[in-house]
Amino acid sequence: MSRCANEVVAIDYSQGFVDTAKEMQSAGHCELSRLEEGHCRKSVVVEPPAGTQPGRITFEQGDAMNLRPGLGSFGQVLAANLLCRLSEPGRLLGRLPELVRSGGELILTTPCTWLEEFTPEARWPRGSTRDWLEGELREHFELLEEHDEPFLIRETARKFQWTVALLTKWRRR
Ligand SMILES: C[S@@+](CC[C@H](N)C(=O)[O-])C[C@H]1O[C@@H](n2cnc3c(N)ncnc32)[C@H](O)[C@@H]1O
Repeated sequence: MSRCANEVVAIDYSQGFVDTAKEMQSAGHCELSRLEEGHCRKSVVVEPPAGTQPGRITFEQGDAMNLRPGLGSFGQVLAANLLCRLSEPGRLLGRLPELVRSGGELILTTPCTWLEEFTPEARWPRGSTRDWLEGELREHFELLEEHDEPFLIRETARKFQWTVALLTKWRRR
């Protein structure tokens, strides 16, 4: 988002993720230990993706289900692969009309991997995640676009997890 916005507020629940992001921001890189297999790890240096502008970003720890008051409203809001990791995803959806300015954009991606480990089954969508989102958001948002967003997560040197997330893009009415 820092490629196209002058000011970005980046929030994650994990203090470790936030600290690592801040370290990359100030040092321009970060050294991590990557799992190769079993007991084998390898030290790697990672850098921010090409074209990003780390100086435009404020990183903070926060809970997407209980975002701090006074966070403000934004021209663009992105929740990437978050919804199905929340115990009460409806609480984030309920806050979104306040967070996205009129005419602003909301982008949600989710692999729709609903698991009891994160979300009680009673709070999983009854039908498809796409239809559930449309039902929850249509009062305040117009659906502009939806498509598949593939990504690959490296687990070890020889094992990768291939996922195709559902991406939906909305305009705040
Ligand atoms: C599947 S990962 C996605 C990470 C990243 N957004 C991406 O797309 O690569 C889920 C992320 O949600 C964060 N998370 C989990 N519960 C959260 C909450 N209640 N509030 C904010 N972030 C949360 C986790 O710390 C983790 O970074």
